[in-house]
Amino acid sequence: MNSEYQTIKLRIRDGVAILTMNNPPVNQMSELFTQELRAAIIQAQEDPGVKALVLIGTGRNFLAGADVTQLLQVTDKATMAAHLTVVHQGFQAMEQSPKPIIAAINGNCLGGGLELAMACHYRLAAKGVSLGLPEVKMGVIPGGGGTQRLPRIVGLPTALELMTGGKIIKSEKAWSLGLVDELAEGEELLDHALAVAKKFQDGILGWKTRVAIRRIDRLPSAQEKKHIIAASRQKLAKQAIGYIAPFKIVEAVDQGLSADPQADLAREIDLFGDCVVSDVSKNLICLFLSQRAAGKLPRIKGLKSEPLRKVAVLGGGVMGSGIVHLLLSAGLDTVLWDIDQAALDKARQAVAKSFAFQIKTGRLKPAQLEQMLASKLCMTTALEDLSEADLVIEAVVEDLRVKQELWKKLDGVCGARTIFGTNTSALPIGAMASVLADPSRMIGLHFFNPAERMPLLEIICAQPTSDQTLAAGVALARLIKKVPVVVNDGPGFYVTRQLITLPSAALYLLADGVDMEAIDRAVKEFGLPMGPFTLEDLTGLDIGFHVCQTFARELGPRYQVHPLHQAVHGLGDFGRKSGRGYYDYGGPKPVPNPRVREVVADYLAAQGKAPRQAQEGEIVDCLLACAINEAALMMEQDICDRPADMDLAMVQGTGFPAYRGGILRYADKWGLASVHQELLRLQEKYGSRFEPAGLVRKLAQHHGTFYQQLGR
Ligand code: NAI
Repeated sequence: MNSEYQTIKLRIRDGVAILTMNNPPVNQMSELFTQELRAAIIQAQEDPGVKALVLIGTGRNFLAGADVTQLLQVTDKATMAAHLTVVHQGFQAMEQSPKPIIAAINGNCLGGGLELAMACHYRLAAKGVSLGLPEVKMGVIPGGGGTQRLPRIVGLPTALELMTGGKIIKSEKAWSLGLVDELAEGEELLDHALAVAKKFQDGILGWKTRVAIRRIDRLPSAQEKKHIIAASRQKLAKQAIGYIAPFKIVEAVDQGLSADPQADLAREIDLFGDCVVSDVSKNLICLFLSQRAAGKLPRIKGLKSEPLRKVAVLGGGVMGSGIVHLLLSAGLDTVLWDIDQAALDKARQAVAKSFAFQIKTGRLKPAQLEQMLASKLCMTTALEDLSEADLVIEAVVEDLRVKQELWKKLDGVCGARTIFGTNTSALPIGAMASVLADPSRMIGLHFFNPAERMPLLEIICAQPTSDQTLAAGVALARLIKKVPVVVNDGPGFYVTRQLITLPSAALYLLADGVDMEAIDRAVKEFGLPMGPFTLEDLTGLDIGFHVCQTFARELGPRYQVHPLHQAVHGLGDFGRKSGRGYYDYGGPKPVPNPRVREVVADYLAAQGKAPRQAQEGEIVDCLLACAINEAALMMEQDICDRPADMDLAMVQGTGFPAYRGGILRYADKWGLASVHQELLRLQEKYGSRFEPAGLVRKLAQHHGTFYQQLGR
């Protein structure tokens, strides 16, 4: 008998019950869905006319797993355990079904979706669809039996790699791993599934031997298991510092995969609970949601931007060539302008080289690259060739006059609707807009180096930038698969000004006798990719110093350049590029630069100070308090106003540890009253650089948080 549930449609064809799962918008596993699936399966099992069951999804999804926003609400393990127990019971009932169940994987089969498929007796997948257990990216472990079924199906090493990395693979790869039994063309999937059902009916396939949780053929011996687990733990100890879920996955398989699956599955539920209530998981889920919401601003809601067909890039240097890479990858007609043929030749080489990874991994063949460069990339030294561009992205030398001259010329060449985007690191966008006849068409498009790899695009609105221009900037970000974070114009915009607080605050500690290497170590231990002095060496001390001077000039006395900074800069050792900066890079590994050591020692002697030990906590508190304060100042100054975007920008643009959620989430956790206290202490000790921002004081007084106060 055919039936309609709210989320499942059951129809019978040739003795096979076809259960079509349809829980819009993305076929997520809700509580209602879980109940209805169970009811529909029981109905089919009890129907004497039904010999086999086929589960299939709708649209682009087979089943997309749990709704992560619900995970955010979970605060106690017991409620979660009760819910997961019901899910587990459902999956186990499927495995023990008296009739075979076939998963016809028509689309994305992720998380709980794959766990459901693994509880089926046969997995048939459409070609090109995605499968995986990406739970770890939300800070949790697979909680629907995945940790116990996947290793039994694909073997322990592969399962660990897939689960601890949250890797998503295509069905072709899944087939080669044994996760999928058979592949089919999308449009033939259902017919194929019915044919499989027939094979079960005819006894050609037996389903009782296909119950994943009972399989042991791919499990390692006890000795092998010990080695695999040890190797995995060793790898994670380096790669997953600060995270919880990857280690819990290893624990689930280490203690699990036994002859007592009931106990193993119960343990999985318990370990899932440990993860889901952790701050790490909440932080990761919030970042995921922020990323989905990035660029969806009330200001441009409902605005449709003009389609971007042809995009021009000015300057094919380090940044320009990376931007061309992105445009070509998005299939856009691209024009690259540079000052002369030599510059263009160099740029072409750089663009081609930027695809080396795709070539090496076989995603692009050398002939395809050549074909793309020949058909999609036009290189020119004549600005007139940019006349038909919908968008021009400028990435020439960081010189306001040079940039303004180019904009003036282009204003006469391009159409009345062309959008002008500049990739300046720090020059005022407003000053560039001012030379255009229509300044509303100018916007900052701040890419990060290397542009083809860094996920963030900081979009900067000058005062005259129009909503239409902003909508185009966000549309570009989507086209080239970047995360857009929109801020307002101001020195260093958001990211640079935020990031520079770390080396700036670190200098006050250095000038107070704290060891440079200890400061770098503490910051790395906190989870940033490198310490502030190593970062300065990488970006160049001359550049950092220049930015600090600009801040001092434009943002006021709080930002005056520290005399020790002045003295170190005076050495002329500008970092990695000059072989020496705070560290000396001449030897096999960097060591503190003796010249800097001497300058610091002289400074301390002149101030009557002695070198001193500092705990990691003191160092981190000082740097983070300064960073939090700066974020608050930027909100007061209307550079940015969305904590979620600011946190996302730091995670995606600078490698701020995702598990900490970002600077403002860290501040909220620390407590604004404590941040305020710390700032007052630092202000007394080191001066006005640390004077608490009004917003910090206000939040401290009212027990507020950035996120409550200002929303997501
Ligand atoms: P680059 O030195 O690699 O490239 C500069 C480009 O400007 C070259 O294509 C060069 O031919 C062209 N150029 C030189 N003199 C010129 C002139 N007089 N008129 C017009 N074009 C001229 O520089 P890079 O690093 O690519 O920087 C370009 C822009 O991107 C700068 O505004 C920089 O501040 C910004 N930026 C740089 C980042 C980085 O990490 N390198 C990061 C983000 C922004």
